[in-house]
Amino acid sequence: MAGKWTPRSWRTKPILQAPEYPDAKALAKVEGRLGTYPPLVFAGEARRLKSALAQVAEGKGFVLQGGDCAESFAEFHPDNIRDTFRVLLQMAVVLTYGAACPVVKVGRLAGQFAKPRSSDTETVDGVSLPSYRGDMINGMDFTEAARVPDPERLVQAYNQSAATLNLLRAFAQGGYADLHKVHQWTLGFVADSPQGERYRDLANRLDETLAFMAACGLTSETTPQIRETDFFTSHEALLLSYEEAMTRVDSTTGDWYDTSAHLLWIGDRTRQPDGAHVEFLSGVANPLAIKAGPTTEVDELLRNIDTLNPDNEAGRLCVIVRMGGEEVEQLLPPLIRAVEREGRKVVWICDPMHGNTVASANGYKTRHFDRILAEVSGFFAAHKSEGTHAGGIHLELTGQDVTECVGGAKAITEAGLADRYHTHCDPRLNAEQALEVAFRVAEALKENRVNGANAKHGRAAVGS
Ligand code: PEP
Ligand code: CO
Repeated sequence: MAGKWTPRSWRTKPILQAPEYPDAKALAKVEGRLGTYPPLVFAGEARRLKSALAQVAEGKGFVLQGGDCAESFAEFHPDNIRDTFRVLLQMAVVLTYGAACPVVKVGRLAGQFAKPRSSDTETVDGVSLPSYRGDMINGMDFTEAARVPDPERLVQAYNQSAATLNLLRAFAQGGYADLHKVHQWTLGFVADSPQGERYRDLANRLDETLAFMAACGLTSETTPQIRETDFFTSHEALLLSYEEAMTRVDSTTGDWYDTSAHLLWIGDRTRQPDGAHVEFLSGVANPLAIKAGPTTEVDELLRNIDTLNPDNEAGRLCVIVRMGGEEVEQLLPPLIRAVEREGRKVVWICDPMHGNTVASANGYKTRHFDRILAEVSGFFAAHKSEGTHAGGIHLELTGQDVTECVGGAKAITEAGLADRYHTHCDPRLNAEQALEVAFRVAEALKENRVNGANAKHGRAAVGS
């Protein structure tokens, strides 16, 4: 029999990717302090996200999840938050038009500070040091001192998350998210893009729709849905000391919520069914996600679904698929079939980033735009042939004009990666590449709609 869940019960389970703090007492002190700080999100908001995701699970919505691979203390700046928020809003408007259904917007931000690593150590010129594990844990500089896990970083991550969330709430509700404004930015992108011709048609039709709505009296002044939006936060629940400290009982329902973000996910490296991360998240009532990678076994996925969503509640659990552009069409269908056979309700989300990371000839970790599109395309194709709903996309992106992924309309080359390669961890799509993905996905969603939802014929190609 499994033991009784408490916010601490994960401590009795095997754990991977956990940093070794040299001073356990100092860590415990910080955990205690964080436990007295205000929650970052409210349980009611997490429940609202769960209801929105329940709609997606029923095939009546689409999820857009995106943001940095890793947020950083050094790049904490209102312009960065604004630009990421802005590109996510632009993408959401394009996707809403394509899908003709609500798009649930979830940022990878205000808490995305802890990173799993393939290796515990990093070696440079014969010197080995502990790996960088995200700004919430240690420093990126390649020095012995920087790489020592420091508990005070949890407090800094909390403070930065609180300030980020404060600005996001202001943007979402204070007029910045106005549909007309968002659309104007997108028209600017279409005008500048070498692929603008391809995107102009959709943009023009959106333009006409907004003009028609305004003529009917649906304007920012009359209609809150036009000037405001719902925006949710998420991150990988990796550093369980932090997550436990942020976990509180909701006075309305008596349930436990992890108040560090609306949605928490379990990464590909920490999804062991008997492990600490699955144990911890099984007890909080937030909506959750779990990654499914090339090594995910059907039985393991079903076990995790049972543990994380025993009541088969729609909207409780998303499966974020990250197989790689070459493998997805082969590896995803068996998972879909098993989940369907068991009648389990999940939201399927495509992460086309993490299965497509390669080293460039000049030594940069990068991703090719076409491979990213190929994975999205394969994901849609798998759902089409299984008659299930392709429920969303999960992207690593930034609103900045970086050069970290190869390709896209402006054809970033491997040689060009050095120009503006700023990521603290994985390569992100820049604002233009991210919008291009949104236009391609919108085309596919529209095609699905025209061919009939859940139709087992035809194929919407994102990559062509
Ligand atoms: C991530 O989302 O940054 C990540 C590390 O992904 P995965 O767990 O899928 O490798
Ligand atoms: Co990443």
